[in-house]
Amino acid sequence: MTQKPIWIQNISQLVTLSSKKKGPRVREEMRELGIIEGGSVWIENGIIQDVGTTRQMIMRYLSRAKEAEIVDATGKIVTPGLIDPHTHVVFGGSRENEFEMRMEGASYMDIMNAGGGIHATTRKMRTLSEEHIFNQTARRLDLFLQHGVTTLESKSGYGLDLENELKQLRVMQRLHKKHPVDIIPTFMGAHAVPEEYQGNPDAYVDLVIEEMIPAVVQEGLAKFIDVFCEVDVFTPEQSERILQAGKAHGLIPKIHADEIEENQGAHVAAKVGAISAEHLLKVSDEGIAELAKAGVIACLLPATALYLGEKPARARDIIDAGVPVAISTDCNPGSSPTISMPLVMNLACIMMKMTPAESLCAATYNAACALQIEDRVGSIEVGKQADLVLWDVHNHQKLHYIFGVNHVKTVWKNGVKVVG
Ligand code: NIG
Ligand code: FE
Repeated sequence: MTQKPIWIQNISQLVTLSSKKKGPRVREEMRELGIIEGGSVWIENGIIQDVGTTRQMIMRYLSRAKEAEIVDATGKIVTPGLIDPHTHVVFGGSRENEFEMRMEGASYMDIMNAGGGIHATTRKMRTLSEEHIFNQTARRLDLFLQHGVTTLESKSGYGLDLENELKQLRVMQRLHKKHPVDIIPTFMGAHAVPEEYQGNPDAYVDLVIEEMIPAVVQEGLAKFIDVFCEVDVFTPEQSERILQAGKAHGLIPKIHADEIEENQGAHVAAKVGAISAEHLLKVSDEGIAELAKAGVIACLLPATALYLGEKPARARDIIDAGVPVAISTDCNPGSSPTISMPLVMNLACIMMKMTPAESLCAATYNAACALQIEDRVGSIEVGKQADLVLWDVHNHQKLHYIFGVNHVKTVWKNGVKVVG
């Protein structure tokens, strides 16, 4: 079916994020947003066909105006669709009981070590049907979309056995086909040592390496592999073994690194050549230097820090060291039950002292780089997927300045209006 072209005009700021620089952006590159004041975009067949000022575009397209759907964006801005590069969005149930326990003083790791946390959600995953998980996740994806997210990464890790890890990954594959939000899947069988392997974590690591990774790869269910490298979860040595095994099977490593305690996570990320290291609340100066040297992207999750009552990651030190930064919701039922990338963008500024421009780059182009999809999304450039958001603010700073409000007016996914 051929779609009518869409012609967006009079955009107060068209925030293209376009740049000659290839690959993830660092330091002051993160502030270069490629803004066109009074901008305009022509979309055809789901692809961005042309970009310019409204004046230039009228010269080029006036003769074709009749065939297009015209959108007047006076007083509003357009950005690339937001990209969330780190979520645990496929889950069943919720954990408000643990929230209450934490408000009364228990720590996240206390709860997990006592059989709650990831273990509680794993018990749910093992009992609920694939259909149930599918439907709950689809509703969450609707909310992501309404808040401007057009692509997200999704991790397994609530099955912790072959059958249920595959169940979670198959839900992602089905939702990727069915739902407008694109889902980039990550296998995270090493999210926790399951209860039946307590006291024998190496046997579980063997299971992940020998059975789960080959099965996941055989079915083509994941692009990335991740591990929770943390005190009382997986050691740096176990993490490295798992990531190297994934790599040998063609999966690209990511790592939950130095989240609750400094645990050599950044070091492992650099050593295995991970595409990104996540969290980094407790990363050391040496860890930051290693990430910079190895070109690992830091994926920072300020909503998680806020929710756990932890000090946020040192974004300024990380950016100043030349590490490219992406930001993410970490959407999960324990440490960050939110679907809001706009909130995360606010928090990146408020808690981590990133500038609005850096935050927007981290939520679009650099996030795309953390998923290795920057050739098709993450910026508004000719030939890229027409994943765009129209925001009801007249400059990009205002997106970050006014918080707790959903400024989304319209979302287009592959050139189709899906919100608004
Ligand atoms: O990234 N840290 C490990 N995993 C998640 C939390 C998962 C959960 O609590 O269910 C995180 O914070
Ligand atoms: Fe996470």
